[in-house]
Amino acid sequence: MRFDVITLFAPMFEALTAHGITRRAFEAGLWQLATWNPRDFTHDNHRTVDDRPFGGGPGMVMLAEPLADAVDAARAAQRAAGIAATRVIALSASGVPLTDARVRALAASGEGVVLVCGRYEGIDQRFLDAYVDEEVSVGDFVLSGGEIAALALIDAVVRQLPGALKEASADDESFAHGLLDAPHYTRPEVWRGRAVPAVLLSGHHAQIAQWRRAQSLVRTARLRPALIERARQLGLLSAKDEQVLRSDAQGAVGRAPAANARAPSSEAANKADASAYNGRVTMV
Ligand SMILES: C[S@@+](CC[C@H](N)C(=O)[O-])C[C@H]1O[C@@H](n2cnc3c(N)ncnc32)[C@H](O)[C@@H]1O
Repeated sequence: MRFDVITLFAPMFEALTAHGITRRAFEAGLWQLATWNPRDFTHDNHRTVDDRPFGGGPGMVMLAEPLADAVDAARAAQRAAGIAATRVIALSASGVPLTDARVRALAASGEGVVLVCGRYEGIDQRFLDAYVDEEVSVGDFVLSGGEIAALALIDAVVRQLPGALKEASADDESFAHGLLDAPHYTRPEVWRGRAVPAVLLSGHHAQIAQWRRAQSLVRTARLRPALIERARQLGLLSAKDEQVLRSDAQGAVGRAPAANARAPSSEAANKADASAYNGRVTMV
């Protein structure tokens, strides 16, 4: 998969090519990256890429022409590299929120992607209308530029490319089945008085899978209830899942999570929860 990024700050993208999973995938040739500086597509001595907004107001607006020429160059480079279709995505606070489903679709598309990173107050609307297929937001907050949003998008897409993850597939992660991920634990078994839920030490794979599913369900219902509704509408919840959710809603299981869903505060309470587990859930 190839990304061409239109940006005034190309070095920021070394964060992906120099570190971790994205670096390994880059070096393995699973994805390619090229950056294009709009300043290289200007024709004045100052290499101007922005100007004051018509109608007044604060800040500057990115000029359409250097961005259009940069996208044309990126598209031509993708054609020369044998990529048949190019999708142009602008990062924008007013774009459609990025989701796991959109990330997976991009990873599976086989298309080349051109990402346009805005700066200043934003980008001349006529460029967006003429050149951009979609505008994507990474959240309801305002960043100083599109680069960090583009980094997040590329990172999320690359980890979905076949071969990018060393071990467990991305199918186990949050959102893969419409739910948040279950909590994770590693050694030691007791850390500062907090014990690992006993079921995870039982070696009983079916019970562990059941416990994790219940944790995912309850966590999602408590922290992101809209996701449960969506999973329900998509037919992703079984009768057993609904039973777990009903038990939780009736307060029959678990305890209310702390704001950040921390582990239980005492070993005794945790052990009691874990041993009480029998197809039921203990929210940790
Ligand atoms: C300072 S922001 C412009 C904010 C714009 N005036 C607004 O109120 O929406 C500069 C650039 O950062 C990027 N950006 C800011 N917030 C973003 C977000 N939540 N998601 C994606 N891109 C964002 C966009 O490329 C934008 O053009």
